[in-house]
Amino acid sequence: MILQSGRGLQGEISIPGDKSISHRAVMFGSIAEGKTEISNFLNGADCLSTISCFRKMGADIEINGTNVSVSGSGINGLKEPESFLDTGNSGTTTRLILGLLAGTSFHTCLTGDESIAKRPMKRVTEPLKQMGAAIDGRAGGNFTPLSVRGGTLKGIDFESKVASAQVKSAILLAGLSTDGEWTKVTEPHKSRDHTERMLKSFGAEVIEEGLTVSVKGGQTLKGANIEVPGDISSAAFFLAAGASVPDSRLLLKRVGTNPTRDGILDVLKNMGASLKVTEHKTDSYEPIADLEIETSRLKGTVIEGNLIPKLIDEIPIIALMATQAEGKTVIKDAEELKVKETNRIDTVVNELKKIGADIEATDDGMIIHGKTKLKGGVKVSSHGDHRIGMMLAIASCLTENPLELEGSEAINVSYPGFFSDLDRVQQ
Ligand code: S3P
Repeated sequence: MILQSGRGLQGEISIPGDKSISHRAVMFGSIAEGKTEISNFLNGADCLSTISCFRKMGADIEINGTNVSVSGSGINGLKEPESFLDTGNSGTTTRLILGLLAGTSFHTCLTGDESIAKRPMKRVTEPLKQMGAAIDGRAGGNFTPLSVRGGTLKGIDFESKVASAQVKSAILLAGLSTDGEWTKVTEPHKSRDHTERMLKSFGAEVIEEGLTVSVKGGQTLKGANIEVPGDISSAAFFLAAGASVPDSRLLLKRVGTNPTRDGILDVLKNMGASLKVTEHKTDSYEPIADLEIETSRLKGTVIEGNLIPKLIDEIPIIALMATQAEGKTVIKDAEELKVKETNRIDTVVNELKKIGADIEATDDGMIIHGKTKLKGGVKVSSHGDHRIGMMLAIASCLTENPLELEGSEAINVSYPGFFSDLDRVQQ
C-alpha cells in the first residue's frame, strides 16, 4: 500500500468500539444467565475470534452490524468444543478464555496465530494451575497450543509481578468458579479495570481495595445491556496526528476515558498539545467524552512508572509524535512492550529509524530526540502488528515523501475502518 505524504487532517470521526470492552461483553454475556445486548461492538478480527470461540462452546451469538446479542445459560451452560478454539492474534481472548476454561467440566485445546505462539502464557497458566486447573502446552504451558482440563478450583491470593489486566482478569474469572471461596489479585500498578466494572454491571460483587481486587466464587452473572465506548487506543492515532500534522483539527466522538486507560491524554497535556475534553453525562459504567485536538507546538516529556499501564498500547504512536516535539522524550519502565503482538521496542525503533527519526532503544523503553523532519520515500512494515501499521500510516502524513507500507491488513485486528476514516479527514 502506498501512503501519500504531507496532508493536514480536518473533520469529525466516530471512533469504533473499544476492543477490551467488546471482548469482555461477549465473554461475560456467554457465561451469564439470560440475554446480553451489546451496542457499538468492535467488529475487528480480535473480537470476532472471541465470538467464534464462544460459539464453538455453544453460546448463541447474533451479530447485526455493531449490535451483538448473546444468549447465555450460565457458566455451566458452556459445552466441550469439538475442535481447537482459535484465538487468532488476540492475547486478550487467549488469556481471559484460559481463566474461564480452568473452571469448566471439560477439555479444550487452544491455538492462535504465529504471534500468539510467541507470547508468554505462563503468567496466566501458573496461577491457574495453583488454583487446580490442569493445563499443558509447549515449554511447560508457556506457549500455545495449550490444552486445558477444567476442574474444581480453589481460591488463591495472587501477587502478580506485572501490571496486566489480562492476568488479573483471567484469575478473577477463574475465581468465579470456586465453591464460594475468595480469589484475590494484587498488582504492582493498577491495570485497566474493565473486568471489574463490567462484572458489576452483570450483577457480580467485586471488591477493590487499592491495588487488590477480590471476587467470591459461585456468583451468578445476569445478562446486561452494554454500550461499548469508542476505543481510546484507536483514538490515540488521530489524537497524535491532530497534534503533530500541520493544518489539522479533529473532533473524535464518544471516546472511552476510563482513568485506567487515559494516559495518552496526560501525555498530550504534558507535551503542550491543545486538547479539549468534553465529558458526556452518562450513567454508563464507563466514562465517555468527545476529544478535540489541533496542531500544537509540542515539547518532549518523560513517560514512566504508574503512567505506563495507562497507555501501554499507545507507545508506538506516542513515539512518532515525540519525533515532532522539541527536545528529548524518554519512555521507561515499559519492558512489557517486548511481549506484545511484536517486540514493540524493536519494531517502533527500527521502522521509525527507516524514515529518518532520531530514536534509540533502551532496555525498558526508548529515547527520542526532536524535532525531526521525517523523510520517507522508503518501504516500511507493520510486521503483522496492527498498532505498528497504524503508526506508520499516520507517519506518512508527516513525511516529505510517500511511504510504502507492507502488511497493512494487520490493522483489521482493531480498526477495520481505519483507512476510510483517515482518507475522509485528509484534505
Ligand atoms: C488488554 C490488556 C493489555 C493491553 C491489551 C488489552 C485487555 O495487555 O495491552 O491490548 O483487554 O485486558 P496486558 O494485560 O498484557 O498488559
